[in-house]
Amino acid sequence: MTDQSPTPAELLAARYGSDPGFDPPQWNQTLTTLLQHRSVRRWLDRPVSEDTIRTIVAAAQSASTSSNKQIVSVVAVRDAEQKRALAEVGGPRQAAHISTAPVVLVWLIDTSRIRASVERARREKPVIEYTAAEYLDEVLVGACDVGINAQNAVIAARSLGLGTCFLGSLRNDAERVGEIIGAPEHVVPFVGLEIGYADPEEPAGVKPRIPQGAYLHWDRYDADAATDVGEYDRILADYFAQYDQPGSWSAGLVSRVGPKAVKVAKRHLLRGVFERAGFSLK
Ligand SMILES: Cc1cc2nc3c(=O)[nH]c(=O)nc-3n(C[C@H](O)[C@H](O)[C@H](O)COP(=O)(O)O)c2cc1C
Repeated sequence: MTDQSPTPAELLAARYGSDPGFDPPQWNQTLTTLLQHRSVRRWLDRPVSEDTIRTIVAAAQSASTSSNKQIVSVVAVRDAEQKRALAEVGGPRQAAHISTAPVVLVWLIDTSRIRASVERARREKPVIEYTAAEYLDEVLVGACDVGINAQNAVIAARSLGLGTCFLGSLRNDAERVGEIIGAPEHVVPFVGLEIGYADPEEPAGVKPRIPQGAYLHWDRYDADAATDVGEYDRILADYFAQYDQPGSWSAGLVSRVGPKAVKVAKRHLLRGVFERAGFSLK
């Protein structure tokens, strides 16, 4: 660690916006990379090479995968028109950063390889079926694997000096995203990930998280501790004030979970998207 590098105590204080109350017994570059995470929404006009994308994807594929199903695929969108089309799905508040990101990885829950294996096996033994697709768990398996793969990509990108921003907003219209990238009916776009070189002028930093006491429980869940976020509303408001933005965590949470927010983001339509893709969600 050079003299300019933040110390573990500084990194932890930034992550929580306060003294976390413990001293890590060990530290390393991986922890620094993780603790320094922030989403990037302003990009330099600098391309990301194909082999860099391949390297990041190799890190993503190195993630654990439920039952070794490998139920995930990814489409790396670099074409400007394609990105503009994705930006339309993301909506006006996201359009600028989606269309200017050098690459948008669209992560897919992809049962096509399972279906192909089942079809081949059925030729020998017609009783074989893809019964797992009837149950909600198969979608959860896909969503979990996508998240783990994509987060590996985030860390790999960061370790290479690149920034990232997740795009759950692609689920505003997953079927339109499927059309844009040419996904067949059984393949569901689940989350996007912008990757590029961060504009250092972007007014954003390490956004504090809720206190660890509300998040970490030892041996048994503590319901009172879970909802005790202490000074977090003030800490987050102070963080946003540094960038001249308003922001209250509690008010933000409430506004994001109400009927209007759900309908605007079209999340009430997602069940139909998965059913049409062959998941029965039982
Ligand atoms: C699954 C997921 C979906 C997200 N979707 C979006 C999105 O559509 N647009 C966006 O600007 N940020 C999106 N984000 C980024 C979050 O807003 C961000 O992670 C959060 O505000 C914390 O900020 P930080 O990442 O800078 O620490 C998403 C993050 C995750 C994990």
